[in-house]
Amino acid sequence: MFYSSSEIHHVVIGPLEPSTYYYYQCGGEGPEFSFKTPPSQLPITFAAVGDLGQTGWTSSTLDHIDKCEYDVHLLPGDLSYADDRQHLWDSFGELVQPLARARPWMVNEGNHEK
Ligand SMILES: [Fe+2]
Repeated sequence: MFYSSSEIHHVVIGPLEPSTYYYYQCGGEGPEFSFKTPPSQLPITFAAVGDLGQTGWTSSTLDHIDKCEYDVHLLPGDLSYADDRQHLWDSFGELVQPLARARPWMVNEGNHEK
């Protein structure tokens, strides 16, 4: 009810080259991040996990994914389990940032994102 969102940055980039690392900063300041684009041809390796939530199991799952070589992360719904608690989207973003900032994520909504 009294939630106030942090600043959200949005930018359109491209065209991007396949299998290439790009470096960026959010808002032109702060830490530098990088991400890698997927290859233009098969094989493309996917990491797929749904129902992530925000528990110790979530951290363990993300740690396992982080140790894998993959090109794209698929997240088929039920991301943060925030439901109507908006502040839980912030903590979810902080939890997944190390992976979400490094590879493309393809996300679908689940029943908890309604
Ligand atoms: Fe679920």
